Amino acid sequence: MSFKKNKYKIVKSPLSAEVIRFIYDYFLLKRKVAQTFIEQKYISGFTTDWGVWGDTQIKETYSHYADIVMECLLDKLVPIMEKNTGLKLVPTYSYARIYKKGDELLRHRDRKSCAVSATMFLGGDPWAIFIDPTGKRGAKGIAVKQKPGDILIYSGCDLEHWREPLKEKSHCQVFLHYNEKNSSELKYDKREHLGLPEYFRNVYFEEGKKTHWWDEASQSWRQAVEKDPFKDD
Ligand SMILES: [Fe+2]
Repeated sequence: MSFKKNKYKIVKSPLSAEVIRFIYDYFLLKRKVAQTFIEQKYISGFTTDWGVWGDTQIKETYSHYADIVMECLLDKLVPIMEKNTGLKLVPTYSYARIYKKGDELLRHRDRKSCAVSATMFLGGDPWAIFIDPTGKRGAKGIAVKQKPGDILIYSGCDLEHWREPLKEKSHCQVFLHYNEKNSSELKYDKREHLGLPEYFRNVYFEEGKKTHWWDEASQSWRQAVEKDPFKDD
């Protein structure tokens, strides 16, 4: 099966079972540590560095943008992804989740940073991912069943993909996202390097000077505060 023709490809266990089990155990333990940190108020409930419980797609489920182990996995899979897609790729970002019973991933397409994506099943209960290879909207699609370590490579911006409500207890999975090398403005999802949290996106380099979006925001807020008519109330 050709990725270029079909815009998706299933690759069976490109890494060893031991490596996949290690990553799965690591991520389960990370969730447990993060739970304890939050319960015991060691970290703020607003901190995202240890993962979050819910995002715009799935509520109250442990999810993590750019966990450092997942980012290493993202980088390690570049040659495997290139071989199976026939494309020269750069990593953009990783996103891991431990889904729970009842979770559902609604039918959607992805943003540009996800042009070439892989979803890898890491552990827990098997759960099919659906993909619509026609590239249309609302078609029946096909169910892809995976074993731990298997990846489904797909063009996330072109093909709708979704998961029906999870009937079993738990399913751990990571999205690994890439772009073609020539569209490198999205390299590392606009972060300085892999591993950095989402709020390190959009770092601008100008005349050798690095600027973060929050520098600009804080400057404009400071100016606004100076002019605020209620400042001295
Ligand atoms: Fe997606």
